[in-house]
Amino acid sequence: MKKYLVTGGAGFIGSRLAKKLTAHGQVTVLDNLLPQVHAGNPDNVDRVRSCGATLIEADIRDREALAAALNEAKPDVIYHLAAETGTGQSFDLPVRYNDVNVMGTANLIEAVRSAVPDLERIVLASSRSVYGEGAYVNDAGQQVLASERRAEDMEAGDFSVKCHANQPLSPIPTNAACPVAPASIYASTKLMQEYLLHQAFWGTRTQIGLLRLQNVYGAGQSLNNPYTGVLSIFCRQIEEDRTLNIYEDGEIIRDFVHVDDVVSAFEMMGTIDTMPDGIIDIGSGEATSILVVARLLLDLLDKPGDRYTITGAFRPGDIRYAVADISRATDELGWRPQIPLADGLSHLITWSRSELQNAMASS
Ligand SMILES: NC(=O)c1ccc[n+]([C@@H]2O[C@H](COP(=O)([O-])OP(=O)(O)OC[C@H]3O[C@@H](n4cnc5c(N)ncnc54)[C@H](O)[C@@H]3O)[C@@H](O)[C@H]2O)c1
Repeated sequence: MKKYLVTGGAGFIGSRLAKKLTAHGQVTVLDNLLPQVHAGNPDNVDRVRSCGATLIEADIRDREALAAALNEAKPDVIYHLAAETGTGQSFDLPVRYNDVNVMGTANLIEAVRSAVPDLERIVLASSRSVYGEGAYVNDAGQQVLASERRAEDMEAGDFSVKCHANQPLSPIPTNAACPVAPASIYASTKLMQEYLLHQAFWGTRTQIGLLRLQNVYGAGQSLNNPYTGVLSIFCRQIEEDRTLNIYEDGEIIRDFVHVDDVVSAFEMMGTIDTMPDGIIDIGSGEATSILVVARLLLDLLDKPGDRYTITGAFRPGDIRYAVADISRATDELGWRPQIPLADGLSHLITWSRSELQNAMASS
């Protein structure tokens, strides 16, 4: 039986992963149970407590606690998910985001070196945000670098992505061949996590797996955390009969991938005989606009279909188009997403409705 340690293993993705891994071996979760994520949302922690995993409540920034946890768990495989995860919030709290995401990863490296030098694998929950605007082609079909969108263009209602010569570009699904260009502090910290792990374990027997995740959604993503999970935020606002504010012109494109599919990809990375090393993009591979998904949720929740406003507002660090090229995941990992968006959304709203009703009943 293998031993697994999941940092951030009490969270939305991590708690489901920890439970799944108990079928393969002994599982330890290290998580500081961050109130912003867990307040009013006890199900994920309960899942960990009841699935047979050992929960160590500790902060990834606490080097002694981290080393003690690794010495106790002696894992063969570490999944590194502990992180601060709000793109917008990272703009306001750069020190906290660097501390947890970057220094936390550096702490993990030193703890591994001292406690488990023979560690087999580390699998990182990285993010597609490291690509910034991602992959684009010009009129001639050539892949070219997109430049960062300019505030003055967006104030004038032009949200399109252009090349450095100011010519409009067309998006294509993004994969690791696309140069990285993080557009937010959160994204920069996720890229640093990748670099640190790659550089620290280069040439050792510890293999590094990097999953760049698109927008993960599903039951269990906090309905109270205003910084993460656009679909959970929409569910709450719709149930409260609020009008949805939709940024830009509604045509921001995202790749929504269900949490169960993401957990399967992580599970495969830790249990497959030969793990594909390097970067793997994980998403549904499908493009959905924020406007379309908002209308779908309004429809599923039986609310008037026009209860939204396209505000034209925009946020620093928001990117226009994010869709994964998942061919490496399908070809080399043997993974493919199984849950269609409509099914995933139905499940999400059943869960969110009962959560919000329970919260109202107990208040
Ligand atoms: N959910 C997504 O759409 C998405 C997309 C791309 C990447 N990711 C990455 O996946 C990972 C998991 O994300 P999630 O959506 O499950 O988020 P989450 O917030 O539900 O889980 C993160 C967990 O880390 C814990 N944590 C935070 N700070 C910590 C610290 N200092 N020490 C120890 N534990 C700490 C939290 O308590 C939480 O349980 C993160 O690394 C995130 O960057 C998520």
